[in-house]
Amino acid sequence: MSVAAVVPAAGSGTRLGAALPKAFVPLAGVPIVVRAVGGLLDSGAVDEVVVAVPGDLLDRARELFVGRPVRVLAGGGERTASVRLALELLCGSHGGERPSGPAGDGPPEVVLVHDAARPLTPPALIASVVAAVRAGHPAVVPALPLADTVKQVCEGAVERTVDRSELRAVQTPQGFAYETLRRAYEKAGDSGDTATDDAGLVERLGEPVVTVPGDPAAFKVTTAWDLRIAELLLEGS
Ligand code: C5P
Repeated sequence: MSVAAVVPAAGSGTRLGAALPKAFVPLAGVPIVVRAVGGLLDSGAVDEVVVAVPGDLLDRARELFVGRPVRVLAGGGERTASVRLALELLCGSHGGERPSGPAGDGPPEVVLVHDAARPLTPPALIASVVAAVRAGHPAVVPALPLADTVKQVCEGAVERTVDRSELRAVQTPQGFAYETLRRAYEKAGDSGDTATDDAGLVERLGEPVVTVPGDPAAFKVTTAWDLRIAELLLEGS
């Protein structure tokens, strides 16, 4: 069963406040996207990776992944657009490069979608998501319980306290039977642009989405604070 991973890395990362798009910011000397892709390949569960990057960084990205089973393409204006373009490349309907990865010329059976912005995701977590899809679940997300109390707020005033025992924070990689994710993107059309994750589009199909235990190390680097935490974790490892 071939497994491909799609890595959306085309965001500008304005909340990080760096001079470079977030995925290309060095984390302890190595660009964030290189660490994220390295974790996928180190898991031993992923055959090839497709990375969506800002159009003006295509050449830079190609240099970063020379010799690895990685293809790069220019992403879109929203995260979902970047994932959609990468899926089209995987299934061979993209106008540009033809599939040439180790997974062969057709689409893979399993596809992961993994934020470039999660550079410290443990390979064991990646392998556990793939294993759950292989076991027959069409959509799998890593999830963590919430530590904080959660309140719904309107214009600074608390409206209600939400029962956190039923809530989970969801990470990536999210894993899918390829055909399920393809149908989810097909159904979503342009309305998918508001989705903040891929499993949300599968939910709109009415298909089951199951969870596996997430890992705090798979946190998303969004702000300068997150980047500092990631640096400290690497120093301590
Ligand atoms: O902005 P945020 O951190 O939520 O983005 C999640 C991931 O989606 C990041 O890895 C980012 O690079 C990617 N992204 C993308 N194309 C966009 C916007 C975000 O690939 N247009």
